[in-house]
Amino acid sequence: MGNRNQHTVSSIESLLDTTEMVKNPVQVFEKYRQKHGATFKFNFGGFRKTVVTADPDFLKYILKDNNSNYHKSHIQVKRFVEFQGKGLTNSHGDYWLRQRKLLSLGFTRSRLSEMLPIQIKVLNDFMDDFDKEATKGPVDIHQQMVNFTLRSVGKSLFGSQMSNQELEQFASTIASIQSFIVRKVVQPYLMPWYAISGQNKKYQEMRIKGDQIVLNYIEKRRTENNQERDILRLILTTPYKDTGEFMSDETVKVEILQLLVAGNETSTTAATWAFYLLAKHPEYIAKMRNEIEAVFAGDEVNYSKLHDLKYTIAVLNETMRMRPPFWMIDREALQDDEYNGIKIPAGTTVVPYIFGVHHNDRVWEDPEKFNPNRFTDGNDKKVHPFAFIPFGGGPRVCIGQNMAIMQILLVMSRIIRNYDLELSEDKMVGMHAMMLLKPDGPIHINFKRINF
Ligand code: HEM
Repeated sequence: MGNRNQHTVSSIESLLDTTEMVKNPVQVFEKYRQKHGATFKFNFGGFRKTVVTADPDFLKYILKDNNSNYHKSHIQVKRFVEFQGKGLTNSHGDYWLRQRKLLSLGFTRSRLSEMLPIQIKVLNDFMDDFDKEATKGPVDIHQQMVNFTLRSVGKSLFGSQMSNQELEQFASTIASIQSFIVRKVVQPYLMPWYAISGQNKKYQEMRIKGDQIVLNYIEKRRTENNQERDILRLILTTPYKDTGEFMSDETVKVEILQLLVAGNETSTTAATWAFYLLAKHPEYIAKMRNEIEAVFAGDEVNYSKLHDLKYTIAVLNETMRMRPPFWMIDREALQDDEYNGIKIPAGTTVVPYIFGVHHNDRVWEDPEKFNPNRFTDGNDKKVHPFAFIPFGGGPRVCIGQNMAIMQILLVMSRIIRNYDLELSEDKMVGMHAMMLLKPDGPIHINFKRINF
């Protein structure tokens, strides 16, 4: 592929698309991909040299084979450090590796399986509320998934003592700060205004208040004898292998908040799209339900049984192929590089275009069709490993992917087992792409209980 597909989007073309790029970047990227091939170059915002790729071999090169030459972009790291501190998601090199090694222990198979009781309690409580809403009429599934995921991710991280109300407060603080960071990235020319108008100060104060709540909570957890298997406890009780020291409270705070940010809206988005696509394609529901009945058959849910839900997993994978929560990620070349004849000078922004490779018709047959069978009977093993990368790839692949899959399978299997679903109006829901690829409005679904 490589060289043949490498084309440059002209400056005029990208200038004409500026407004559309802010409103609907996926549509513009898709247009360029159709016109210029799986890999294309353009000047982002008229000045930043950018290479975008939806070619699985090139993606493997950037994310895995030569990953040490491609750091997360300066913008991403700088803006996020300012408000989140330096942690796993925005560090590199030895610091990143040390944090990654320790935090990975929180996401092992055995750890996730020990966490299942917290998850099931969250699910049961959520289902009580959900059922009340569903009997009243159509529910906004996005809002429901916001409720579920925040509790599910939040309590896996902080433990079940953290109340729903406290979690909601964190989430709203984080959301306000995130949208401020995005504004700073998208409109950097307003930087002086952010300082003069007191906005920097306002958001920093908000952050400090939120941080203090977490620090107090950490201190409380250090002093009490709580045996719950949440991630905070693991971090507090596991020393670094190299020095035998423990993480400082400040570092614990940064990491736990970064995990909440990384894990909350992503899983919400994936689960929301899954229910939407199932409501659009109800022909897959009966098969899922039969499988769920057969796998659980009245028994307690356990971690390995969740992974026997092969068809449900295929539906989830097909959802994340069509609507990957991260539609793109970004990198910056540290040294001059060349891949298959494509010159990549130091400082070039390289965009692993996840949505693009998931819709690349050289890899996927009929890519616009929702077809979970792509992921059954080993069919997915026949495609390039970097053709399906909703969780990224290489050493920086998502640390929380198995937790996300566990939580989404729990809620999907419980709802699909007990309810039929139908969109309340038969409309196409569009995509709204900022950092994440979200639905462009509420999705109202009628859930009709079938098991009493
Ligand atoms: C469906 C849900 C999720 C999706 C689609 C997703 C996607 C991703 C992607 C694409 C990356 C790579 C970013 C890059 O390379 O620039 C990533 C990294 C990461 N994810 Fe997730 N994620 C999900 C859920 C979670 C959860 C539940 C957690 C933790 C509670 C989590 C924590 C992280 C962290 C800490 C990183 C950074 C890892 C590193 O840089 O070493 N994610 N995720």
